[in-house]
Amino acid sequence: MCVPDDVITNDDLSRIVDTSDEWIISRTGMKERRRARRDQAASDLAVPAARQALAAAGITERDLDMIIVATVTPDTLFPSTACLLQERLGAQQIPAFDVSAGCTGAIYALALADHFFFRDQYRHILVVGVEMLTKITNWSDRSTCVLFGDAAGAMILGPSPDGHHGLVGFHLASDGARAHTLHMPAGGSRLPATQETVAGHLHTLHMRGNEIFKTAVNTMYESCRILLESAQLEPRDIDLYIFHQANLRILEAVGKRLGAPPEKVFVNIHKYGNTSSASTLLAIHEARVQGALRPGSLVLQVAFGAGLTWGGILWRW
Ligand code: ACO
Repeated sequence: MCVPDDVITNDDLSRIVDTSDEWIISRTGMKERRRARRDQAASDLAVPAARQALAAAGITERDLDMIIVATVTPDTLFPSTACLLQERLGAQQIPAFDVSAGCTGAIYALALADHFFFRDQYRHILVVGVEMLTKITNWSDRSTCVLFGDAAGAMILGPSPDGHHGLVGFHLASDGARAHTLHMPAGGSRLPATQETVAGHLHTLHMRGNEIFKTAVNTMYESCRILLESAQLEPRDIDLYIFHQANLRILEAVGKRLGAPPEKVFVNIHKYGNTSSASTLLAIHEARVQGALRPGSLVLQVAFGAGLTWGGILWRW
């Protein structure tokens, strides 16, 4: 994982908008988040995260067969951040492309990557979730600007040597009817950039927080239920729940509905805020470093986000 150096505390935010440390902690569980510099773009975080993942996997960039980057805040709309990453890593001329599924992006990318292993030519696929939502934040909107942080997480996937470890199952879903509840209205072909769109903050994230909150709890619970049922498992069989770190109250509500003990629900939202498609990859990395992931652990990685999209992956670590 890679996060920018600059730490933004709740007190820092209270000097920008009408908010307080107490409100942010009690309503979201967030204490601080990281913010990229003006001159930093998504690939600047993706490169170090990818290099760490290569080192952890014991391979080099020359061994990669594909790069998939999940992001809604790419360096540029095109070319893709995955192509920029391919060049910056010094990888061979392998397929590289971005996936746009909001905060569920990493789940979509990992599930997609898994399918390429049915063909023998793919041995190592790099999946990166990278986001710089602070670049599309309206810093005068207190209901959104306190929530987001910048980060990249990376994972290398390969065929399981013994067939007993790895991705056991996945669930992906979407509902475009609720696209308007979380979106960036301008900057695409619907509303290309004009002076009016910039003045109207239409190039920033717009969100109906309350609606998203309820949807997040329902959809993440639904993905867990479907994955557990299809694997014939009970919630108590899961060793670790890695939920999208969007709001501590959302994580607690999903855990409670599942009947999962709080110590099995991984939390690092207090340090990074909501890092969108990087979020669950950061959580997996930190859980691994802390020794919470052991060989054979059953892990449920679940997220929801813009689209709306939601989904999850069941891992046997
Ligand atoms: N500081 C102080 N007061 C605030 C702030 C703030 N930062 N933000 C909102 N308020 C106020 C509101 O103005 C409102 O005041 P009012 O009653 O006088 O009108 C009051 O707090 C309550 O507002 P709510 O929106 O009802 O507050 P809520 O408890 O729902 O918390 C929040 C808002 C944190 C946004 C919550 O709804 C939430 O977390 N929703 C989900 C957001 C989410 O997960 N988004 C990401 C999804 S996908 C992705 O990751 C990109």
